[in-house]
Amino acid sequence: MARARRPLIAGNWKMNGLASDSLALVKELAGGLKQAGWTDRELLVCPPATLVRTVADAVKGSGLLVGGQNCHAKASGAHTGDISAEMLKDAGAACVIVGHSERRSDCGETDAVVRAKAEAAWRAGLLPIVCIGETLAEREAGKTLAVLETQLKGSVPDGATAARLVVAYEPVWAIGTGKTPTVAEVAAAHAHIRKVLGGLTAEAAGVRLLYGGSVKGSNAAELLAAGDVDGALVGGASLNAAEFLAIAKAA
Ligand code: PGA
Repeated sequence: MARARRPLIAGNWKMNGLASDSLALVKELAGGLKQAGWTDRELLVCPPATLVRTVADAVKGSGLLVGGQNCHAKASGAHTGDISAEMLKDAGAACVIVGHSERRSDCGETDAVVRAKAEAAWRAGLLPIVCIGETLAEREAGKTLAVLETQLKGSVPDGATAARLVVAYEPVWAIGTGKTPTVAEVAAAHAHIRKVLGGLTAEAAGVRLLYGGSVKGSNAAELLAAGDVDGALVGGASLNAAEFLAIAKAA
């Protein structure tokens, strides 16, 4: 069943943030959210794991959501240095990013690994944001839509519903580069993602699809207006409260 897709503006802080500056940032965001009074869109920040609880405690009651940037597929065990979805939930997270291209390239995460992490998120009661996206070589070879289809089919577990899944389309070559696809390219990618999702869940029409890759205040309105775009996954610009709020305003 299709349902209204409430825009989601998600900030991925990556490996940035110490307690003092992060608290100042989220206080500004919570203040901006309160002032704007938005109930028609959701704002999410994904700080590094060390700050999830600190940030979650600081923004409690503000409406600002907190998420993790990654989780292990298992709930607990002998996995030194890893963090489970249950631990993120325990620290106050509501969501978790899985399969970001930096995890896929830095840590060799395959579609199967990403899928297991998305299932772990469900097990813990977290909303997974499953990231997919083509490299520049794949785009130039005309393989973008085929790559997205393969990643989506491999990374989304069985049993997805509109309430339990967010997909982020992030072209690898657009992340942190200042380059973005054209609005038509974004719309084409998102339309294809929704079509492929149609084969994976009866609720494809209700799943939120985020665009990510060099989103900032100045290009957000254009990118967010593209067909089938239901929000943004923002890296660099999410570290600046004014920029992040400008993107949220554009949603
Ligand atoms: P960027 O990163 O906004 O800095 O390009 C986006 C992301 O990696 O999620």
